[in-house]
Amino acid sequence: MARFCLPRDVYHGKGALENLKNLKGKKAVIVVGGGSMKKFGFLQKAEEYLKAAGMEVSLIEGVEPDPSVTTVMNGAQKMLEFQPDWIVAMGGGSPIDAAKAMWIKYEYPDCTFEDMCKVFGIPELRKKAQFCAISSTSGTATEVTAFSIITDYDKGIKYPIADFEITPDVAIVDPDLAQTMPQKLCAHTGMDAMTHAIEAYVSTANCDYTDALAIHAIEMIQADLIKSYNGDTESRSKMHNAQCLAGMAFSNALLGIVHSMAHKTGAAFADYGAHIIHGAANAMYLPKVIAFNAKDPTAKKRYGIIADYMHLGGNNDDEKVDLLIKYLRGMNDSLKIPHSIKNYGADSYPCDQGFVPENIFLERLPAIAKNAIGDACTGSNPRQPSQEEMEKLLKCCYYDTDVDF
Ligand SMILES: NC(=O)c1ccc[n+]([C@@H]2O[C@H](COP(=O)([O-])OP(=O)(O)OC[C@H]3O[C@@H](n4cnc5c(N)ncnc54)[C@H](O)[C@@H]3O)[C@@H](O)[C@H]2O)c1
Ligand SMILES: [Zn+2]
Repeated sequence: MARFCLPRDVYHGKGALENLKNLKGKKAVIVVGGGSMKKFGFLQKAEEYLKAAGMEVSLIEGVEPDPSVTTVMNGAQKMLEFQPDWIVAMGGGSPIDAAKAMWIKYEYPDCTFEDMCKVFGIPELRKKAQFCAISSTSGTATEVTAFSIITDYDKGIKYPIADFEITPDVAIVDPDLAQTMPQKLCAHTGMDAMTHAIEAYVSTANCDYTDALAIHAIEMIQADLIKSYNGDTESRSKMHNAQCLAGMAFSNALLGIVHSMAHKTGAAFADYGAHIIHGAANAMYLPKVIAFNAKDPTAKKRYGIIADYMHLGGNNDDEKVDLLIKYLRGMNDSLKIPHSIKNYGADSYPCDQGFVPENIFLERLPAIAKNAIGDACTGSNPRQPSQEEMEKLLKCCYYDTDVDF
């Protein structure tokens, strides 16, 4: 038996933001990031619509990219003071994820961050507030997912909080919000979405419901991501839907070790001046993980089916897997995403020697590999890596060498 859980309402299409007018409640808190929503006027519009719905509105601004435990706890404190019955989170994955974790702490003030991280262990929410999520990036799909990713900066580790309790009640997928994304954000979030769809399709928790969503998302991302990156507004709108479909798939089918590795490398070298941005990490690791997972016969067959839907050719599953890997690497080239950590510059663009020094990578490798194996996304990966295999796989991701094990 399995559960398939989505928000009760998904408002999509141009002008969908206006549906905020239809929320019923007394007090709404809007949670946003560093300023892009204000700069482009979306925050003001959201405030206006909520006031038109008769609500008192308060703001929590300034959630940083890859939000911290501290940000979550501070935001929850503000919610406890204001007592909202609607939490409206708006922006990229970062503010929406932070707001989800604030929501848990607001409903259960004694809940610690460790408590939140117990997979599918969140107590029943909605005693105090409902949750509306409005995405402005086309990748994480957190507006429809049961996940929130919070970074513990003391440990340099990203922790996924996972429970259908935090699947939003209302999602708003308005393509206007995605039009203002700069090219780099479009590239990274788009490859995040592609990774979600592919990992969901080969996950051991896949089902008929998630397969349909994952395959359609893959086809749409193949058709629209590069065009969206190059400024096609229609493709930009399509990508906003495609990433949401990918999210519906992975929220129910779960993910795999591309995400485990991205979570555990993302902030691991922050002391060397940068993060490996989530979507870029996924884009670099995905082809390596496909080669690793394809040793599992069921996964190989499923990658072959993906390659068929993408019309990549190939006479047998081995050829199809190779063509899929080649195609995804080509997408990275078109989107100016490097193929390896070694070539990942502090600005995320390809360069000869990136910001992660080789000796530091090798020094931290055993711990990163151990953490990646322990990540919540590893359990549903089609092939379970040993410590030795995970270290080898991460090395292939550092040096861009072939996975032959
Ligand atoms: N909850 C999930 O299911 C899930 C899935 C994948 C990733 N994540 C997490 O989400 C986070 C990444 O989220 P993200 O990629 O959406 O980016 P983000 O929210 O971190 O935003 C990145 C930057 O883009 C800006 N921005 C956002 N929307 C914009 C727009 N429309 N126009 C101009 N600028 C805009 C923000 O102000 C910010 O500076 C990571 O922490 C990642 O681990 C969560
Ligand atoms: Zn992701």
